[in-house]
Amino acid sequence: MNKCRICGAPIAPFMSFGKMPIANGFLFPHQYGQEYFFELAPAFCPQCNMVQLIEQPEPEQMFHGEYAYFASTSAYMCEHFRQLYSRVTKDFLGDDPFVVEIGSNDGISLRNYAAAGIRHLGIEPSANVAERARSLGVQTWCEFFDDKLAHRIVAEHGKADVFMGANVMCHIPSLSSVFKGVRELLKPTGVMIFEDPYLGDVIEKTSFDQLYDEHVFLFSAQSIANAARPHGLELIDLEHLDTHGGSMRYFLAPTGARQPAPIVAQTLENERRLGLDKPETFDSFRRSCEAIRDDLRAVLDRLRAEGKRVVGYGATSKSTTVINYCGISPDHLEFISDTTPTKQGKFTPGGHIPVKPRDAFAERYPDYALLFAWNHAAEIQAKETDFNAKGGRWITYVPKVEISQ
Ligand code: SAH
Ligand code: TYD
Repeated sequence: MNKCRICGAPIAPFMSFGKMPIANGFLFPHQYGQEYFFELAPAFCPQCNMVQLIEQPEPEQMFHGEYAYFASTSAYMCEHFRQLYSRVTKDFLGDDPFVVEIGSNDGISLRNYAAAGIRHLGIEPSANVAERARSLGVQTWCEFFDDKLAHRIVAEHGKADVFMGANVMCHIPSLSSVFKGVRELLKPTGVMIFEDPYLGDVIEKTSFDQLYDEHVFLFSAQSIANAARPHGLELIDLEHLDTHGGSMRYFLAPTGARQPAPIVAQTLENERRLGLDKPETFDSFRRSCEAIRDDLRAVLDRLRAEGKRVVGYGATSKSTTVINYCGISPDHLEFISDTTPTKQGKFTPGGHIPVKPRDAFAERYPDYALLFAWNHAAEIQAKETDFNAKGGRWITYVPKVEISQ
């Protein structure tokens, strides 16, 4: 019997996506023999409502010196973090402020604080992206954050006004040790601010591609309130975001320190209406995933039979789940276009589809582009007007399989 990673209650998976490789494990053909696979099976805890993976590869297998994800490849995300910086400096910094961010990656967020001369520290275990951040003047420790590290930070730098994390909390299996560390690290007036893909959006849109090795949790306001409570942290505010296909930003403070905003109670009520506290919701999610899988596979099989050229757009982590769950092969997709230099020239995890720079896409437009980076659709549509003008068609699969006219 498996146990909930948060509260220890017995849990069972509501579905399996089958064997999956490391989502960001882009590789060369000579490495195919050593490729690592694990069973991607999510479960819902009926006691604390946390959605979680039963099995997750070791953190060091996912986050290391050749980590493929450089956050600053998206201009939209750079602006998103600049806006967060404005909010933080306006509302949350006291005297001699100190800001800590985990999962600081290539410095996409902290570079704003560094440029303004604000005391900051990034915690980033993937050495290559940490190095990029340092080159931008962002002070970075190349470590995994946990409660022990929180003690070291306090000893060297003192307590923090703000503890932040974007798209990283849902990666950390020992969530309790993070909350424990945060409680130790925050000033009494301090706040914890983090954002991650939101379970409510995943259920509403059937965005099953948010499930992959790194995302050991899919959070809701309910599950975060329940997980943080034993560590003396309370949900005081929430902000729904359009990033990564629908995310939630959570604001927490030491219990009793700040008055929770009305949106907290409203969101908890809305989550009950959505059924995020009921096992049946996840059975119906499984059926929706199966329908998308079958439809997408049927479209790609048909286009292959018709001799159409189809290319993937955006070698996202999310695409690893789609490619392997739907059985998409190099026979379906000629290649995947991606702007990240470290992914180019390699092959996708599991499906072994070549990744090529965007030039390869623009040199000879395909008939169809399968939009794996659907969360960046607006940014991509704005720059691919020529493909559209020449009759290129987009295939999308969230919330259902569609082909643009
Ligand atoms: N914050 C950026 C990057 C998210 S990618 C953004 O929102 O775009 C997640 C990052 O978290 C990776 O760079 C990974 O190396 C880092 N990470 C994973 N586990 C971590 C941990 N325990 N502590 C700190 N960072 C971690
Ligand atoms: P993203 O959706 O941010 O994340 P995840 O890996 O978490 O699913 O990844 C976007 C990927 O798409 C990244 O590899 C860069 C690529 N990309 C492009 O190729 N062109 C673009 O215009 C944009 C915005 C992204």
